Amino acid sequence: MAAVSARLPAFPWDKLEPYKATASAHPDGLVDLSVGTPVDPVPDVIQQALIAAADSPGYPTTWGTAAYRDAITGWVQRRLGASNVGHRNVLPVVGSKELVAWLPIQLGLGAGDKVAYPRLAYPTYEVGALLAGAEPVMYDDDPTVLDPAGLKLLWLNSPSNPTGRVIPKDDLVRIVAWAREHGILVFSDECYLELGWEADPVSVLHDDVCGGSYEGIVAVHSLSKRSNLAGYRAAFIAGDPAVLGELLEVRKHSGMMTPSPVQAAAVVALGDDAHVAEQRGRYAARRDALRTALEAHGFRIEHSEASLYLWATRDEPCWETVEYLAQLGILVCPGDFYGEAGERFVRVAFTATDERVAAAVKRLG
Ligand SMILES: Cc1ncc(COP(=O)(O)O)c(C=O)c1O
Repeated sequence: MAAVSARLPAFPWDKLEPYKATASAHPDGLVDLSVGTPVDPVPDVIQQALIAAADSPGYPTTWGTAAYRDAITGWVQRRLGASNVGHRNVLPVVGSKELVAWLPIQLGLGAGDKVAYPRLAYPTYEVGALLAGAEPVMYDDDPTVLDPAGLKLLWLNSPSNPTGRVIPKDDLVRIVAWAREHGILVFSDECYLELGWEADPVSVLHDDVCGGSYEGIVAVHSLSKRSNLAGYRAAFIAGDPAVLGELLEVRKHSGMMTPSPVQAAAVVALGDDAHVAEQRGRYAARRDALRTALEAHGFRIEHSEASLYLWATRDEPCWETVEYLAQLGILVCPGDFYGEAGERFVRVAFTATDERVAAAVKRLG
């Protein structure tokens, strides 16, 4: 048997280990700003909902409980401005990473099909294309310059990981029209949508973008970042009912079910905006502190108008910056993890505690 993993890129995080060792040797300890993983508590209302649903002996359904679908459609209508969304327009997934990685296979894509994604991007879009044996294609800021021949799936990611760039509404309108004209399915990864700082990210499902029809478009959302639920694995997709119906069939047969207690917790999380506002407040303060300290230290920050990251450069190769900051006990992520185009940038996550962020600021001061 040929190893499937041989098709995939090397797992990049292993390369960071020596720098982590250097940074950990700092007398005041490591400040880890490399991974965008939440560190603040799961909000109490969500924990209580999980606990209340602990006695769940039966199998969950792939499509989710009616209450979960109601919670998703309610949130999508309210928060994304998508007025015509009903239960057939939504589908839970077990965290969005599994969806991103397995989507091309679940859509039946393979040799001869192209999957496009941003040149600087979350690596799992490429992984998905490679797992399916499809051809990965990259674009810079504007996907409409791509050759549409053979292009079956177009990934958008706004706000972007790693750059924090937001696609303006007018560009979304243009991209959706172009994709529909060429019969290309658009999947828009919007998992940082609630984390806009100097921009107000707009969903591809917004009435003004799609005209109230979800034909050929699907938005991907996750509770990992907005609700500190990365450990729960709760995410969903919303949009074209034909595409979602087909995915539901495939996913039912392959056991891709969100655990019942997680569904119950997600219902509460999606119905509550207060914890999102509170968490945003924490991130805003950390972002301001780190941005000010990095700029005062000679870094230039590009984009970063949304998401959980600062896209920073000292105009030198990224691994030199990683080494430089590791000497200060600060671990960041090299930009080339997200594509060659990031080789002179580092990604600084502000998912560290207030105490650790204050330590980083002091060391940069
Ligand atoms: C752009 C993007 N999409 C998807 C994910 C996956 O998130 P999750 O699997 O926690 O929903 C991440 C995680 O960092 C991400 O940055």
